Amino acid sequence: MNDTQYNIPFATEERQRIVDQFNRDGYYFLGQVLTYHEVSTLKSVIERKYNDPRMHEKEGDHIRGISLMRMYEYDHAFRDLIVHEPFASLAEDILGQDCHMMSQNSLRYPPGQAGGWHIDDRLHFPLPDNVPCHDPRIPLPCFVINVLVPLIDVETLEDGPTQVVPSSHYSGRKPPSEDNPTFNGQEPISLFTKAGGAYMFNSQIWHRGTPSCTDQHRLIAAVTYSQRIIAQRLYPFIDYKMPEHVLDGADQRLQRLLGRHEKGAFG
Ligand SMILES: [Fe+2]
Repeated sequence: MNDTQYNIPFATEERQRIVDQFNRDGYYFLGQVLTYHEVSTLKSVIERKYNDPRMHEKEGDHIRGISLMRMYEYDHAFRDLIVHEPFASLAEDILGQDCHMMSQNSLRYPPGQAGGWHIDDRLHFPLPDNVPCHDPRIPLPCFVINVLVPLIDVETLEDGPTQVVPSSHYSGRKPPSEDNPTFNGQEPISLFTKAGGAYMFNSQIWHRGTPSCTDQHRLIAAVTYSQRIIAQRLYPFIDYKMPEHVLDGADQRLQRLLGRHEKGAFG
């Protein structure tokens, strides 16, 4: 792929094929989406934000010290990731043309640190014990999509890949507490990529970040998109005011993705 092929949406038919696969599997591997230059810029922004003393105050811009919040505020390189292709168009295809960025957090895991199997936030479609899973013939609506872009090469298990259990968003359950959960015979798969590759997944799929066993931090840029009916999670919530500079030069689509909506149901 040369530079001119970056940041362009897939053709309509290809997008439809990807959306169908995403709805079935709960994730999609996008391949290389960022240039080397974009990767190095984003990496340096993460380090700059992490080293900002404000990050380490009691109410600092982080979750548990490893998830750095509202990256779009910190540098336009992160803000513009929200409208980056090919994933921005896919998010709109899946979540609706009025979807928005729900949050934009970067992950910065020190070597050896990782999280367990989980889904993000609440379980959207829970099932009672006597119903084994949702009917795969019935498409489930997707409300939240995570797009993750590792900024380091993740090519072996030692590098700490993200893992997902395909189709587990159809389980109607949170993942069981075991090392390698399976769903309908499907084992976890590792999402390997060079720096600047990307994958997207439904927030309801069973997933985890595995620990890096090397001496490098696990650095991941991300955008979380949601349907308009799901509130944005911009801390400190009711007291949040988006800084003016975030909107500098932002076109209509980016402004909408940042949350400048038309009036709709309820408001
Ligand atoms: Fe997660």
